[in-house]
Amino acid sequence: MRTTDGGIALAPGAEPIDAALDGRLSATLVQLGATGKAGEQHRVTTFGATTAPVVLAVGVGDAPRTRRSSLDPEQVRRAAGVALRELAGADHVAIALPLSNQGIRPIAEGALLGAYAYHRFRNASKPDHRPPVNAISIVVDDARSADAKRALARAQVVADAVCAVRDLVNTPPSDLHPKEFADFAAKLAEDNNLDIEILDERQLKKQGYGGIVGVGQGSINPPRLVRLEYRHPRAKKTIALVGKGITFDSGGLSLKPTASMDWMKSDMGGAAAIILATVAIAQLKLRVNVTAWAPLAENMPSGSAQRPSDVLHIYGGKTVEVLNTDAEGRLVLADALVRASEEQPDLIIDAATLTGAQLVALGTHTSGVMGNDDKLRNAVVDAAKKAGEQMWPMPLPPELRKSLDSQVADIANIGDTYGGMLVAGTFLQDFVGKQESGQPIPWAHLDIAGPAFNQGDAYGYTPKGGTGAAVATFVQLAEDLASA
Ligand code: BES
Ligand code: MN
Ligand code: ZN
Repeated sequence: MRTTDGGIALAPGAEPIDAALDGRLSATLVQLGATGKAGEQHRVTTFGATTAPVVLAVGVGDAPRTRRSSLDPEQVRRAAGVALRELAGADHVAIALPLSNQGIRPIAEGALLGAYAYHRFRNASKPDHRPPVNAISIVVDDARSADAKRALARAQVVADAVCAVRDLVNTPPSDLHPKEFADFAAKLAEDNNLDIEILDERQLKKQGYGGIVGVGQGSINPPRLVRLEYRHPRAKKTIALVGKGITFDSGGLSLKPTASMDWMKSDMGGAAAIILATVAIAQLKLRVNVTAWAPLAENMPSGSAQRPSDVLHIYGGKTVEVLNTDAEGRLVLADALVRASEEQPDLIIDAATLTGAQLVALGTHTSGVMGNDDKLRNAVVDAAKKAGEQMWPMPLPPELRKSLDSQVADIANIGDTYGGMLVAGTFLQDFVGKQESGQPIPWAHLDIAGPAFNQGDAYGYTPKGGTGAAVATFVQLAEDLASA
């Protein structure tokens, strides 16, 4: 159902149910207080008039002004997600949502993403929590059509990737040290026939990855660098994806306050997103090359931890004065960006839960997109829009760079407090390499600090906790680049 000027209207797809109920569905819903607002839910019993004993009507909100009567794919995706979350505990759910213009992809995506729960560590409390819906049917005109099958397969691949990221983010940091994360990536590589290379702490030290080593040295769980590769024989473009993989961010000696620390198990959300996006892109056999780089470390305080005022030697030779050990993401990313640049990809995109300032600037649901190339930055924002993710272009004002000047090294790891998200992006920009022409490699940076982890209530197809942010956008962008 959706809102209209006068009240509610049934969204297309609901006609057969309405007919089975003698055309009384709208009136019944109105009597139940329905307004059609997005996320609203009302259950109607059918007393045997349909095969389903209960019908759940979900509000989709207003039809968008630009489209007049038809719905936006994201409205459909969210409505399917709301329904599947609400119906957790049911064995089988059939969905009758509008299929006409959008196809089945957003319905399948929303439903699969809504049917998610993380119960791995529930024992005694397990019976109190409903399991996700087991089977989902989508009612279509022709289930045998190749288009329908393709749309469904794509939705399944993307949803699986997003849910795997959610699992990784929700996993307690005691069960996901850098080594376990790298082992998980190795298993994915094996299952999907992808090349993988993992550097351990000895190799990282020997090869000069000062950022990753410096951040990781306070922990008894040593760091790793993962390189995962997908190649398509007819690819025209090679994309490097880089993701921040701090398995837990205590802040290090610049310790975080208690209240903001438990959230920091999500600080590997960028690394998880780029690894699983690469797997999804490979499973869909998209015509691009992707190399994913995940610098993994645990940021802990201890007698061996790096200190504020230490100077690190980043891979490739630049030095960084660490004035705040809690600005650690940019240090591990610096190593990875230089290393990724060495291979001369056509473009580099990183995803990172990088700054609290992202939340101040854009709120909890909208990622900031920065970069050195407006075209690429805008392509990321466009892909996000298609994928149903909220991302917004942000600038890297050149004047911010001087606030990062160090007294002793090439650059300091903190600068101006104002515009903290942009300052962090400006720091990263220093480590993006050049093309043979001397021009910088086109690069975009996604700050997903808030969107990677939902501290608030579940909404649409997004659960509490790990969200899987940026995966769908990366897959969409790869698809866009493959067809460009
Ligand atoms: N991982 C945090 C950023 C973060 C904050 C992610 C809140 C998700 C939610 C990052 O490592 C960090 O601590 N950043 C500092 C940077 C500061 C010291 C310049 C921050 O934002 O406070
Ligand atoms: Mn930090
Ligand atoms: Zn962090």
